[in-house]
Amino acid sequence: MSILIENIKELVQVESIPKPLVKGKEMAKLKTIKNAFLYIEDGLISAFGSMNNLDDSLSIKENNTVTIMDADGRMVFPSFVDSHTHLVYPASREIEYIDKIKGLSYEEIAKRGGGILNSAKLMQEATENELVESSLKRLNEIVKYGTGAVEIKSGYGLTVESEIKMLRVIQRLKEISPLTIKSTFLGAHSIPLEYRSDQTKYVDIVINEMLPQIAAEGLADYIDVFCDTGFFTVEDTERILEAGAKYNIRGKIHANELDYSGGIQAGVKYNALSVDHLEFTGREEIETLLNSETMPTVLPGAAFFLGMKYSPVREMMDAGLPVALASDFNPGSSPSGNMQLIISMACILYKMLPEEAINATTINTAYAMGISNSLGSIAVGKKANVFITTKIPTYEYLPYYYGTNKVEKVILNGEMINQ
Ligand code: NIG
Ligand code: FE
Repeated sequence: MSILIENIKELVQVESIPKPLVKGKEMAKLKTIKNAFLYIEDGLISAFGSMNNLDDSLSIKENNTVTIMDADGRMVFPSFVDSHTHLVYPASREIEYIDKIKGLSYEEIAKRGGGILNSAKLMQEATENELVESSLKRLNEIVKYGTGAVEIKSGYGLTVESEIKMLRVIQRLKEISPLTIKSTFLGAHSIPLEYRSDQTKYVDIVINEMLPQIAAEGLADYIDVFCDTGFFTVEDTERILEAGAKYNIRGKIHANELDYSGGIQAGVKYNALSVDHLEFTGREEIETLLNSETMPTVLPGAAFFLGMKYSPVREMMDAGLPVALASDFNPGSSPSGNMQLIISMACILYKMLPEEAINATTINTAYAMGISNSLGSIAVGKKANVFITTKIPTYEYLPYYYGTNKVEKVILNGEMINQ
């Protein structure tokens, strides 16, 4: 099965020589081809270029059924890659949202046993089937908004059984969803109340009881720790990252959301694939990241929803760092997986240029998920996960005209998705 998309107004984020990530000044550059075609064969991007060169550059295999689509002035983008979500959860938490409106902080809500612990309580009773069903709905929703790959974390279990249940749900989602999915074990998301006076004991359970079973069943691609004030310490984090490394499971950690927690340094020390949130990032943290292979990942949805300060992305890029942007889709601090909205927030709240925000939500998040060799840009041989926009005048219009869906058609693994 092949698809030829013709008359594309602008084909966005094309690469002739694919890069694993973009950083610093390069982030403001976005390669596009106007009046373009895109040819998809056997689930992969097979050719692309200017419509003027269509006949020369295309050798359509004989006997191949080609579906020809006329984009008729619409644009084509590589699907968004959302490298940080918690989209498997048992129930929404709009009551806490009201508490926040009334003035309670995220930490105060957590201290009262709300927040993550609230989800963990409900997670105990949820069945695997219920969780698969509700998560699939969320996956279908983000597909409609243009996401083609997503990382999903555990972390609402906080017991051996419940964490494994969550990861099995993610495993099933990998099997049934057309999205590319990576799973992350986040046993150290919050300290259960019964361990508050001895949190090391809980960390021991994460390391000695949860992780070995999870690794044995191959349930986690990555491992995460919420390294922040009131949650897990640098020492806890380092122990967990070291334990993960023994199973070849790399870290992708929550760091510096609530304070200069030392989480960024701990992540880099253990060669984490990404450190995420980063509201509290100063000169020292930037220096540490500069000498690393760790992707700094900013989550505008959570900062916006919790009314927090915004991560210094401009300083980070000026210093030469790459930046990735993910949704953090979760019921407590970011109840949206809409990556178009994330791009708008990046431009409006963080003063990122549309080009920077598009790089940050495609190729750089692909790096942060360990999949930038197969996703995150339009390049020959990459997986054909793309979307066709509505009729928009420019790609800058995408963040500008915020709040509505500019994705009209979605192709995942080279197949049209019915929506
Ligand atoms: O990434 N910061 C920690 N964890 C999540 C929040 C999860 C929740 O409140 O349910 C986050 O924002
Ligand atoms: Fe998160």
